[in-house]
Amino acid sequence: MDKKFKRTTVTSALPYANGPVHIGHLAGVYVPADIYVRYLRLKKEEVIFIGGSDEHGVPITIRAREEGVTPQDIVDRYHSLIKESFEEFGISFDIYSRTSSEIHHDTASQFFKTLYEKGEFIEKTTEQYYDEEARQFLADRYITGECPYCHAEGAYGDQCEKCGSSLSPTDLINPKSAISGSKPVRRETKHWYLPLDKHEAWLRRWILEGHKEWRPNVYGQCKSWLDLGLQPRAVSRDLDWGIPVPVEGAEGKVLYVWFDAPIGYISNTKELLPDSWEKWWKDPETRLVHFIGKDNIVFHCIVFPAMLKAEGSYILPDNVPANEFLNLEGRKISTSKNWAVWLHEYLQDFPGKQDVLRYVLTANAPETKDNDFTWKDFQARNNNELVAVFGNFVNRAMVLTQKYFEGKVPVCGSLTGYDQDTLQEFADVKVRVESLLDQFKFRDAQKEAMNLARIGNKYLADMEPWKLAKTDLPRVATILNIALQLVANLSIAFEPFLPFSTAKLRRMLGVDGFDWEQLGRTDLLPAGHPLGKAELLFEKIDDEAIQTQIDKLEASKKANETASYRAKEVKPIVLFEDFEKLDIRVGTVLECEQVPKMKKLLKFKIADGLDGRTIVSGIAQHCKPEELVGRQVLFVANLAPRQFKNGLVSEGMILSAEDFDGGLSVVTTMREVKPGSEVK
Ligand code: 2FM
Ligand code: ZN
Repeated sequence: MDKKFKRTTVTSALPYANGPVHIGHLAGVYVPADIYVRYLRLKKEEVIFIGGSDEHGVPITIRAREEGVTPQDIVDRYHSLIKESFEEFGISFDIYSRTSSEIHHDTASQFFKTLYEKGEFIEKTTEQYYDEEARQFLADRYITGECPYCHAEGAYGDQCEKCGSSLSPTDLINPKSAISGSKPVRRETKHWYLPLDKHEAWLRRWILEGHKEWRPNVYGQCKSWLDLGLQPRAVSRDLDWGIPVPVEGAEGKVLYVWFDAPIGYISNTKELLPDSWEKWWKDPETRLVHFIGKDNIVFHCIVFPAMLKAEGSYILPDNVPANEFLNLEGRKISTSKNWAVWLHEYLQDFPGKQDVLRYVLTANAPETKDNDFTWKDFQARNNNELVAVFGNFVNRAMVLTQKYFEGKVPVCGSLTGYDQDTLQEFADVKVRVESLLDQFKFRDAQKEAMNLARIGNKYLADMEPWKLAKTDLPRVATILNIALQLVANLSIAFEPFLPFSTAKLRRMLGVDGFDWEQLGRTDLLPAGHPLGKAELLFEKIDDEAIQTQIDKLEASKKANETASYRAKEVKPIVLFEDFEKLDIRVGTVLECEQVPKMKKLLKFKIADGLDGRTIVSGIAQHCKPEELVGRQVLFVANLAPRQFKNGLVSEGMILSAEDFDGGLSVVTTMREVKPGSEVK
């Protein structure tokens, strides 16, 4: 760590408690933050890791209204589920609390008051939409209407989900309140604004000159915001869920969720360390690091620092290692479309395999650009890397020691040049992994750690100690001693990444733990040290398990396609007398064949209870003639005959249903009826 710092406060974005967490959350924020914190702890540095749920904001109130429960019911449900998922995946928070807690309400309220009293806000009255029936102002999400760009119905006051345009409520054509359905009116309302424009100069200096080391995506996004010029931002809302604005005359108003949420990091630290929290937030020798996703950059690099600066007694973040997004099988992860791998479901399907997911998510971490998670890659990385390299190496070293040396670390004799080279490669890895972790390059750091296992695996494969056992046992002892020192090193190098497997590995090695400082050393296990029982660290994942996951996603895709399809508008009304003019009947297909030279046409011979008839139908690309013979179909019996170019005459029309993608499916009866039966 930089000499000027004594300790590190690590925060990770507080997820909204309105749904469970998925792999995108884990990959983007929580696994990297956890790796970093575990690494610092291993180095015996002073660190705290703060997490919690973000329990305010409009989406939570919408969900509650939809389900007919209170917002508190919603956040209670998801806070517990999210907390449990994080615990299960070994995200080692020192505290995971919530923003509906009393201590947070008090802390955020006090923070607002301090800024208010220091004159750090401006007050503005603007016109906002108001629902006269429901007697409340409407958040942007509570107003729907026609999109001015693509003219889709049901666009929200902040965004049209059909064409993706950002909107403001006044852009909507025919706005409607989502609460009562009535037409909202404009009404004046007063709010408090943080004048970011006043903070622009120091923010520019602080970020653009002082933090050139931030990740290019973070630095770049900040630069674009700053170059556009900052505007005052409202920090209050007209809403009945949140922290009341602690000012007289502010009834019915709460703090904007993005004002209170980051203060949650402070409240949660207070809850964890009531007597010493201040040194983690106010001492310039504390280094503050925020782990977030890219959609949170502006709040953590511009808005929250401006709030902290305005308050006056807090430190500012030293780094904000934001990740880009993780896609799933080539598509954006979407909660509403159920296009996600939910953590609680993963654990049901792959019990005990937390580390496999941690490993794959880090290997594909979206550190510099959006990245993709695929189940095939998940399987390949497990089978070809964790099992075939890491697990295989450890297992061989353990089993051979068991076999030839009764499970005790054998004595290391004199070293060959190759032995020395192998050990040297190990010694170097510490510097490399450490430097990568210090730069928040977790993906490369894990790759380096995996290289250690590759070196070990290759060493054993090259030395073939099993072939030497009969002729040169002392040499086998040396080889296995080296191999076991390498295994012990792996248990250190991988500890931040794979906490469950390395704990198991330490049990297998019969040791309680190592320090980071010991990484690279070749005397970690003394000769004669008894090893524990050998177990398999990782196991193969078969095709069937992967196919089940792919099928699950396919099912989501299908369900969405159906749900997002809107049928064609209905044709103009016809009178019953007109309908009755149509004579629709059931026929049985006697023969069916492709019409020569007419790709789309099938010729049917139909039993119609009379003399039989020929019908030509344009469905050749949708069904096979042999599948239709013997089936019952519906046909329009009194349609004027139609003649085709080749002289063929069609005496009626067979009814098919046209799917939304243009596919045709012949309509049939539920049970067999006599040919010629009328359809009514
Ligand atoms: O984007 C989100 O999920 C927000 N709930 C993150 C909040 S981070 C912090 F400010 F609390
Ligand atoms: Zn639109």
